Amino acid sequence: MDFELKTLSLAGAAGEKCDALVLLLSESFKPGKDALSRLAGEALKARDVEAKPGKLLQAYRSAGIAAPRVVLAGCGDGSGKRVHAAVQAAVGALRASGAKRLVIFLPADAKEDAVRAAVAATAESSYVYVATKSKPEGRELQRVTIGVADAKRQQPAFAAAQAAANGIEFARELGNLPPNHATPTRLGEEAKKLAKAHGMQCEVLGPKEVAKIGMGSFMAVAQGSDEPLRFIVLKYLGAASGEAPVVLIGKGITFDSGGISIKPSQDMDEMKFDMGGAASVLGTFRALGELKPAINVIGLIPSCENMPDGRSVKPGDIVKSLSGQTIEILNTDAEGRLILCDALTYAERFKPRAVVDIATLTGACVVALGGVRSGLFASDDALAQALLEAGETAMDACWRMPLDDEYSEGLKSNFADVANVAGRAGGAVVAAKFLQRFAGSFPWAHLDIAGTAWKSGGAKGSTGRPVGMLFQFLLDQQGTGPAKAAKRPAKRK
Ligand code: BES
Ligand code: MN
Ligand code: ZN
Repeated sequence: MDFELKTLSLAGAAGEKCDALVLLLSESFKPGKDALSRLAGEALKARDVEAKPGKLLQAYRSAGIAAPRVVLAGCGDGSGKRVHAAVQAAVGALRASGAKRLVIFLPADAKEDAVRAAVAATAESSYVYVATKSKPEGRELQRVTIGVADAKRQQPAFAAAQAAANGIEFARELGNLPPNHATPTRLGEEAKKLAKAHGMQCEVLGPKEVAKIGMGSFMAVAQGSDEPLRFIVLKYLGAASGEAPVVLIGKGITFDSGGISIKPSQDMDEMKFDMGGAASVLGTFRALGELKPAINVIGLIPSCENMPDGRSVKPGDIVKSLSGQTIEILNTDAEGRLILCDALTYAERFKPRAVVDIATLTGACVVALGGVRSGLFASDDALAQALLEAGETAMDACWRMPLDDEYSEGLKSNFADVANVAGRAGGAVVAAKFLQRFAGSFPWAHLDIAGTAWKSGGAKGSTGRPVGMLFQFLLDQQGTGPAKAAKRPAKRK
């Protein structure tokens, strides 16, 4: 979708040629003498619409207004959150109209968060999946103009929001692809394509190279599948070459059947979304490639299927991870941590200022936090704070979870250095404690996105989260020197 930011007055908005005009009414709305003001003023007076969030009124062929359709939408205090809800409602109401050209007029005192929210909500609510439909139809909206009082002042926020929206859409699209399309091989190809389009570096390793490096834990998960594994290394270098990078690691299980510890068949199709972490890393790189901020970022994606087979890894098998630690695999369905641990060890070679892994890791995290906030685990308070703040800014929030050492009690093994599962209690934290064993030498954070990466039921589909949070976090890290999030050495919690 094409977005444009434009300086507009109410009178100017009334004259804009488009299929539909959305006027956001905040509590501070001041009507002028133009046709649009008259319409809004009369509607407000008659209480047919209010500045209250959630209120919506549609008008058709209103005198003196160029757009045939006008939607008045209350946005309360004009904050990002309210604007997001109002734009979502307005774009939703216009969906059936077939409008191609849309103008969204923001309140005169709209801040950056309102601009960000308007772009995000428009992109989010107009996305339609068509990749595997025989008749690609549904997405009508082509061009959206965001009207503000001072376009120049809002331009940086607008550009970042647009890049984020494209990154989120890319992640959603990859996440929604069926598992026979979105294979590890396909993810590798998408990464290469992305790198080429935006002048980034990309390396895609296959089974032989990964064996040579010694990622025995990752290889164990992949060995039951006919699809060859891929280990994707993406490099976005926007700052001086000496500046320590942030490393993002995304879980790329393109289908999680559970393996020999097989899952129940109910809703098993949703395990195609188990590459949501990988998709979020690719989406974030897409946004980086478009906006080109001054920061260095490495993306690592271990990707494979988790399948039952005669060659599959079995409960009781012991494997040797890249770190040298041996792991007793007691449950083959706890495979995410097995591929991530080797990627965490691999990350050390980049001498990162911070490492963030993103994974649809545990059903327990869905129980704990539902689909509203992602679970955040961090060994470093400054890094945790930076991610929490980025999540709020991007309206893609997370919530910090504990990492007390007592949670790793159950991971003790009689036969290896560590087991891959413990009891059911505190499952999201136990998984994070397992990962922490492999993240010793840098400030580390783990995002469990099992509840937030996709929606189930009628609205089944990928959300593109947490691309918004990750991208905002990286933008916030610009120019913070060696590491805003890592002034102190990694502190174990
Ligand atoms: N991909 C799943 C986690 C998951 C489950 C995400 C349900 C979203 C919804 C992960 O690989 C998994 O199977 N985890 C197990 C871990 C358990 C065996 C310790 C789980 O959560 O049940
Ligand atoms: Mn699993
Ligand atoms: Zn999984």
